[in-house]
Amino acid sequence: MQDDDELCLCFHVTRRKVVQFIRVQKPKRASQLSECFGAGTGCGWCRPFLKKLMDEANPEAVNLPGPEDYSQQRAEYRKHKSN
Ligand code: FES
Repeated sequence: MQDDDELCLCFHVTRRKVVQFIRVQKPKRASQLSECFGAGTGCGWCRPFLKKLMDEANPEAVNLPGPEDYSQQRAEYRKHKSN
């Protein structure tokens, strides 16, 4: 996943915005990332990835799935979640 790819697909929040938010706002809990354009407050798929970025000293270096895989995995997640 590149910087301009959407990390929160529900609210179209890019990885770059999240990383910037972490760097500037220094949130203490992952739930505070909701203040970053609502990231993580929709389907919930991106929450573990948001937490992963937050837990790392260097969030730019965290390896996340490519945008197509990420989107496809989310579709699966949502399908199972609604059943
Ligand atoms: S992808 Fe972020 S809440 Fe759905």
